Amino acid sequence: MCGIVACRTSAPAVEFLLPALSRLEYRGYDSAGVALTARGRDALHTMRAVGRLAVLEDMVAMESPSPDLGIGIGHTRWATHGAVSEPNAHPHRDCGGAIAVVHNGIIDNADELRARLQSGGHRFSSEVDSEVIAHLVEEAYASCGSLVEAVRRAVHQLRGTWALAVTSANSAEVVLACYRSPLVVGSSETEHFAGSDMIAMIGRVAHVHVLQDGDIVELADHVSWTDMKGNQLTPRSPVTVDWDAEDAEIGVYEDFMEKEISEQPAVSARLLDRLLPGVANGLLWKNLALPSFRSIRFLACGSSLNAAAAAARVFRDVADIPARTIIASEFEEKVGGEVLTIAVSQSGETADIVSALRQVHGPVLLITNAPYSTLARGADAVIDCGSGPEIGVAATKTFTTQVIAGAALGLSAAAALGRSSGSEISQQALALAKVPDRLEAAHLTSFPVAHALAGELAQAPGFFFVSRGAGMPYATEGALKLKEITYRWCDAIPAGELKHGSISLIEDGTPVVVIDSGSPVRLHGAASEMATRGARIIRIGPEGSGAAFPVLADVEGPWGPLEGVLALQHLARSVAVALGRDCDKPRNLAKSVTVL
Ligand code: AGP
Repeated sequence: MCGIVACRTSAPAVEFLLPALSRLEYRGYDSAGVALTARGRDALHTMRAVGRLAVLEDMVAMESPSPDLGIGIGHTRWATHGAVSEPNAHPHRDCGGAIAVVHNGIIDNADELRARLQSGGHRFSSEVDSEVIAHLVEEAYASCGSLVEAVRRAVHQLRGTWALAVTSANSAEVVLACYRSPLVVGSSETEHFAGSDMIAMIGRVAHVHVLQDGDIVELADHVSWTDMKGNQLTPRSPVTVDWDAEDAEIGVYEDFMEKEISEQPAVSARLLDRLLPGVANGLLWKNLALPSFRSIRFLACGSSLNAAAAAARVFRDVADIPARTIIASEFEEKVGGEVLTIAVSQSGETADIVSALRQVHGPVLLITNAPYSTLARGADAVIDCGSGPEIGVAATKTFTTQVIAGAALGLSAAAALGRSSGSEISQQALALAKVPDRLEAAHLTSFPVAHALAGELAQAPGFFFVSRGAGMPYATEGALKLKEITYRWCDAIPAGELKHGSISLIEDGTPVVVIDSGSPVRLHGAASEMATRGARIIRIGPEGSGAAFPVLADVEGPWGPLEGVLALQHLARSVAVALGRDCDKPRNLAKSVTVL
């Protein structure tokens, strides 16, 4: 859940570390820190600060570290063990302050290791699990005198998950290690860089190598790869960094969320250019070469779960395959047999899914925006959503591309398995091809409407989102989006269910966002029951229908009213902005949830 970076460069290390940390801030923003050193320097210059990265940047500007400090490690934290405080911020150091460690992951046996180390005289200065690593490296270094060997001996004693970068005042190098936590490394000429995500390396290297579980990489004059036993490895195959610096910059937008909302038509068009040629002929599905199965279960969390619900409907309705969604953290393997598991995760790192998949024995297909992630490495087949970096914590473009990828797969499966007529699939493929234009129109229409409503809606303590059938995944997504960035309570309810309890919460002015879908009679009946009781109805409906957001297509595809998500995202963002919230970095949240 934290971001780690490291480098060994001829320029000041902070020139890489700080911008790289800023790109990884989506992974956590409670506190941040760096440790710097140089060849022949017998000390580490460590700076740590509580709060956003900007606080650390100010500290670095004030302390103005020596420009020859070209070796460094850095961290941006999302607290799990221990409060948000300077002593708990990374890098963590050994007793003598000569070894520094940044860590992402959880050390399950930290208490046990801490007790042993303390009884051996080690002095701890934080509450966090990660600090044990610094002391384990210190202990091993005292007997072997090699940083890479000391890290190897240290990780042998760990249980849990880790991506580590370790440096020391005495050895002019950085050692990286990983186990079930992401880490990539890249080099240009004589300079070496590492980070939790390739976004950290944009503009520095053309290719990265993704560490695999148990890899230990030494960044010295040369880069050397070894395994846990010390055997030499050839570097993992290179992966092209195909993101531009611009992809990770805010540009003309007020925040990343606004930028990412507006990118949806373009990223959807790009994805469809790649997937549509394999839909009507079934090749997209056939080329995955998955074994036969009788039913599908989607495993996902949060927005990805909502996208999975929209995709599952396509498999059910068009491919006639039983398909259901399961909250990954609630998963328990009960059924054996011929089940295909489709995991949906933008980050590819979500611990709840990683953990659920450990119980799965059958084939796994992954829909993700991170095709080199932990989940991708364990899947039998991967569909890359190719949305580019999504930096705002709230999923926007990754949600939309997940729905599109899921819909394309569902249609292609129907064609491949002969479950629907060729003409029906072609018709649906044509409707899918129109989605980017519809998203663009919905974006242009929704932005001013949401802006105009925001001031009034910001006063409301809570919101309902109501729909039916294929509209429900979007109602749920609208509620999630609004609650995560405005901190207002939000509930998504099928229209028919309101009268069974929730309607008692409706008061004068309670905003109810109605997404037209399913049976209009029932939906409009429910809306009018709520309006009668004082609800403020905000409808997302077709053009010419009198809806506040007239953005939906007249006839929706089996994936439901996807265009409506633009209205929902703009609404959430506009209310958050009106309330003065930071919609890119909402409180208590991080984008990549790598803890259970
Ligand atoms: C969405 O806005 C949230 N930030 C969150 O619900 C997210 O979708 C969830 O944590 C799942 O993440 P994943 O897609 O990376 O697995």
